[in-house]
Amino acid sequence: MTEQQQTVYVIHGPNLSTLGQREPGIYGTTRLDEIDSLLCQEGRARNLAVECFQSNHEGAIIDRIQAATDDASTVGMIINPAAFTHYSIAIRDALATCAFPVVEVHLTNIYGREQFRRHSVTAEVATGVISGLGPDGYLMALEWLVGRLRD
Ligand code: DQA
Repeated sequence: MTEQQQTVYVIHGPNLSTLGQREPGIYGTTRLDEIDSLLCQEGRARNLAVECFQSNHEGAIIDRIQAATDDASTVGMIINPAAFTHYSIAIRDALATCAFPVVEVHLTNIYGREQFRRHSVTAEVATGVISGLGPDGYLMALEWLVGRLRD
C-alpha cells in the first residue's frame, strides 16, 4: 500500500488575488501565482502536497479550513486572512478547531501600519505569525512546518 502524501493547506484571503498590481509600493510586485508555485515547488522537494486556495469570501475560506480539518492527510496550514484578519470572528472560530499547526502570514508588517491593522483576531488562535517579510514569509512558514514534521 502506498502511504498517503502529507498535505499543507495554504489559504489567501480577499484582494490577494491582485498581488502584483495591488498597491505595489506596499505589497510588492510578486504575483500570487508566483508565490503559490514557489510553495508547491518547495513542497514537491519535500514530498509534501501543497494545496493553495484564494477567496474573497469569508464563507468560502471557512469551508476550506473545515475541508483541511476533515482531511486526514493535513499536517499544517499557512493562512493570510488579509482584511479578515482584523475582524472575522467566524474565521477565527474555524481556525480554533484546527488540530494541526497554523501559521498566519502577512506580507506587510501589520504592527507598523494603520491602527485598525494592528490587531489580529485570528493570530490569537494561530500557532505563530510571520508579518512584514513579504513573499519570503510564506516560504519561511513552510520551512517551519517541514521542520516540525521532522522533529
Ligand atoms: C495583509 C495585511 C492586511 O491588513 C490587508 O488587509 C491585506 C494584506 C498583508 O499580507 O500584509 O489584505 O494581510
